[in-house]
Amino acid sequence: TRPRVWVSQPLFADIVGRLHEYFDVAATEQVTQHSPQAIAAALREVDGALVTLNDPIGAAEIAGATRLRAIANVAVGYNNLDVRAMSDAGILVTNTPDVLTETTADFGFALMMAAARRITEAERWLRDGHWRQWNFESLLGGDIHRATLGILGMGRIGQGIARRAAGFDMRVLYHNRNRLPEAVERECRAEYTDLDGLLARADHLVLVLPYSLQVHHLIDSTALAKMKRTATLTNIARGGLVDEDALADALEGGRLAAAGLDVFEGEPAVNPRLLALRNVVLTPHIASGSLATRRAMVSLAVGNLIAALGHGPHAGRPPSPVNAAALGSKPLP
Ligand code: GLV
Ligand code: GLV
Repeated sequence: TRPRVWVSQPLFADIVGRLHEYFDVAATEQVTQHSPQAIAAALREVDGALVTLNDPIGAAEIAGATRLRAIANVAVGYNNLDVRAMSDAGILVTNTPDVLTETTADFGFALMMAAARRITEAERWLRDGHWRQWNFESLLGGDIHRATLGILGMGRIGQGIARRAAGFDMRVLYHNRNRLPEAVERECRAEYTDLDGLLARADHLVLVLPYSLQVHHLIDSTALAKMKRTATLTNIARGGLVDEDALADALEGGRLAAAGLDVFEGEPAVNPRLLALRNVVLTPHIASGSLATRRAMVSLAVGNLIAALGHGPHAGRPPSPVNAAALGSKPLP
């Protein structure tokens, strides 16, 4: 019998269709907020699964999934998955790095600029018919060029943002768990600093670090108090990195100039205090959302799943494993 796979959400049908060559596919026809019980029931029946950030999977959801061998996440981040539990159960997890790096860096830069230059606020003002009240001091923002960019999390995406900053003559500071090799620092024209130094010196701070409980609310009221009053904060990583109420306090109180947020702690719900503020640009988790990149992510995830289950040109060698040690720890069907 053919292996079975579950596809948790509708993705590009022409790309996901490649799975039919090797597997019986249980596809989800509409975007669905699956209950934990529904996820557990779906995983019990299959050898592999293609899932998204909207599908949280922990130890309880895989407890009865005796056949399950691989979960391909259609995202670079995988905090929706309990990777430790997957490893313990011999389940391979894969993600979609690299293919989204440049697109996501583009968006991070755009969101930072929109926040600093008040682009969406200005558009609302124009659409609301206020232009006749314009004066020379209306809608003034902060500069990007020659400002100091602070990048928190210097992985591939952070480095992409740093390379873009060179074109704006920015000074680039970064903080990361591990300092980068000197050659990479030179190529990115980025200078390492500790977290407090980054907070204190950045004119524009961009968050691009992976989320885990260790960095939950890393940007809290204490961290925000160390930032310049004229600074902006941009988050394209995960909402849980920022204490949203503390951020709203800072933005309301004029202790931070503006924020650009693509990710939220309770998404798709957005903290109503943020919705009420003028000086924050809000987007619905679209940083990787160019057509070409979203297609490349699905293609990579599909390729990972096919290979992890022992088929296709990379049989047994999925391109982007997260917990490679789990590979091959369960016999193939
Ligand atoms: C998006 O947030 C991703 O992790 O790919
Ligand atoms: C994270 O994996 C990144 O690419 O920055």
